[in-house]
Amino acid sequence: MKEKLEQIKAEALRQIASSDALEKLNEVRVNYLGKKGELTAVLKGMKDVAPEDRPKVGQLVNETRAEIEKVLEESVKKMERAVREAKMKKEVIDVTLPAKKNNVGHRHPSTIALEEVERIFIGMGYEVVEGPEVERDYYNFEALNIPADHPAKDEQDTFYITGDILLRTQTSSTQVHEMEKGKLPIRMIAPGRVFRSDEVDATHSPSFHQIEGLVIDKNITLADLKGTLAEFAKELFGEETKVKFRPHHFPFTEPSAEMDVTCFKCGGKGCRFCKGEGWIEILGCGMVHPHVLEMSGIDPEQYSGFAFGVGLERIALLKYEIDDMRLLYENDIRFLKQF
Ligand code: DAH
Repeated sequence: MKEKLEQIKAEALRQIASSDALEKLNEVRVNYLGKKGELTAVLKGMKDVAPEDRPKVGQLVNETRAEIEKVLEESVKKMERAVREAKMKKEVIDVTLPAKKNNVGHRHPSTIALEEVERIFIGMGYEVVEGPEVERDYYNFEALNIPADHPAKDEQDTFYITGDILLRTQTSSTQVHEMEKGKLPIRMIAPGRVFRSDEVDATHSPSFHQIEGLVIDKNITLADLKGTLAEFAKELFGEETKVKFRPHHFPFTEPSAEMDVTCFKCGGKGCRFCKGEGWIEILGCGMVHPHVLEMSGIDPEQYSGFAFGVGLERIALLKYEIDDMRLLYENDIRFLKQF
């Protein structure tokens, strides 16, 4: 009997040792310790044991049972711990792993150039305003001293929605909206999209952007215009930049000028970039025409002002030395990534 019990124990312990899952250990428990298990069977066979030996055998059975139970319990605990650890390992977040690459876009070169211009003028106390892209003839032409038969209307041919409503050809229309508000003084810039009936080439597009500027106050003179725009050019293109004003004509300013800056590539000596000129044209400007002030309800005897208009694409092209305006509109990621 003793041998039989030793055998059962050895077999049970062997099976426990080779169990690789909790279910297997449970099977061992049922097979050896359960109601129909091997040890129970031994107890049932007690009737064949001599009565005087029964207590001893009973004790042996209990000892065997206790030993198997002990080992079984330890194994269950060990296995439960292993399962838990494996699960935790699987669920762990490895914070040392490089993050998935997130493709975040960035600002378009025209936007970067615009923000630079805005920064400069905000620094000089200007307000940034906007006007409508779909505009009445009156705001785009008439109120800017360009009556129906004016030749400037040919130069700025645009897209008409009706005879009176059109896509604005210039941001100068925002000057009129600002003046009509009746709040003086005015110190504003107005960036925005403009439209012209032009064919696309390296320097033209039917849709581009301008930044308009307008200052109206008492005692504003041409010296204010020159000082402001010279400072703007220095901030935009570098401290060494010089400016030059060439007489020009715009219907809404008198006198009018175009402003050139010294080529920031060669410093004015003349190079391929400035086509040997040493100067690069960047904007149109002038003193607001008294008639323009009057039409918007401002007394030209009391107030005067200056205005200017800059092509945004032109600034972006110059600043980043881009030689074809179309690149700014094509949105080729290989081009845009460079800025
Ligand atoms: N609107 C003009 C254009 O599109 C640019 C311009 C010139 C604006 C002189 C102005 C200015 O405000 O004073 O060509």
